[in-house]
Amino acid sequence: MAIRKIGIMTGGGDCPGLNAVIRAVVLKARGLGWEVLGIEDATSGLIDLDYRSPHGNRWLEPGDVEHIHARGGTILGTSNRSDPFRFATIADGQKVEIDVSDRVVDNYHRLGLDALVSIGGDGSMRIAEALAAKGMRIVGVPKTIDQDLAGTDYTFGFQTAVETATDALDRLHDTAKSHDRVMVLELMGRDAGWIALYSSIAGAAHVCLIPEIPYRYEPIIEAIHRRKAAGAPYSIVVIAEGAAPAGGQASHLGPRAAGEMPRLFGAGHRLASALEPHLHLEVRVTVLGHLQRGGSPVQFDRVLGTRFGVAAVDCILAGKFGHMVALRTPDIVSIPIAEAIGRTRRIEPDGQIVRQAKDVGICFGD
Ligand code: F6P
Repeated sequence: MAIRKIGIMTGGGDCPGLNAVIRAVVLKARGLGWEVLGIEDATSGLIDLDYRSPHGNRWLEPGDVEHIHARGGTILGTSNRSDPFRFATIADGQKVEIDVSDRVVDNYHRLGLDALVSIGGDGSMRIAEALAAKGMRIVGVPKTIDQDLAGTDYTFGFQTAVETATDALDRLHDTAKSHDRVMVLELMGRDAGWIALYSSIAGAAHVCLIPEIPYRYEPIIEAIHRRKAAGAPYSIVVIAEGAAPAGGQASHLGPRAAGEMPRLFGAGHRLASALEPHLHLEVRVTVLGHLQRGGSPVQFDRVLGTRFGVAAVDCILAGKFGHMVALRTPDIVSIPIAEAIGRTRRIEPDGQIVRQAKDVGICFGD
């Protein structure tokens, strides 16, 4: 079947590099003479064709994507609350989840789309796989700052987030040393500690706590005391938002609300409160939060995003639907989406990179 019109959407949390993908898809597809419909706010623009946000479903021309490669965020808007299989709505005054996926499939056909590029993380890839099973011709493009998607060496967004976190650590070193304080920096990553681990190495943290290695308080207290005894009465402690003490749970903000993911919250403050009475040093907490998601993408994320965008159009040309583009260094390949979902890429607790971090003195609390 000849391709004439494709759609493109961004789903889940935004991350640096999304605009580079959008630009590449538009430039390559328009070069082939295809029309490209930008769908607003993830599947929101497919769930309801009358849905209107400031982004707006709109046909994209090369002029619309000029110079967007350097901008963070996504010009299409996004949402991590628009899973059509678990869509939140109000019924009898209660917030409930309903399945509106048939409506998405109908609207895809009503818009006259021949294929759809879905850019997103694990959640969006699951949705793409399920919609592909309902007959939609979808190609996935993996993104996430968390670097937790299996099947691709890297997702774009991760390197920029690590740069931001490393810059924060450099700044915290200055103030921690001046005040002889313990600085706790809480970083994102959900159930994987990649941002925490990479930035701890790049930013010379003294303690790095990740979800893959449940931590104990004693080794952390000892590490900080050892530094103090050696004449360095300040320490930098990185904690991933999903890290948990041995025998305990990750710190969450209440139960999951309808249509939403469970929200991680409070890991840094919980750690600081537990440590402070044992340290005889002041402890301060910084939660870097969404600063890690914004900002201009570093060159790696721009290049990877651009290559993924071009490869996604190549997948459509080759009829490889239900596939996701992936980096298998140095090449971009495509793999069935089913191969990537359901397997979170996590850090090996005894892997080489953790051992190397320990060799330069980083304490993991184990
Ligand atoms: O998956 C990306 C991510 O930034 C996680 O690291 C974090 O836990 C989550 O999204 C935050 O989501 P929200 O933007 O809904 O607060």
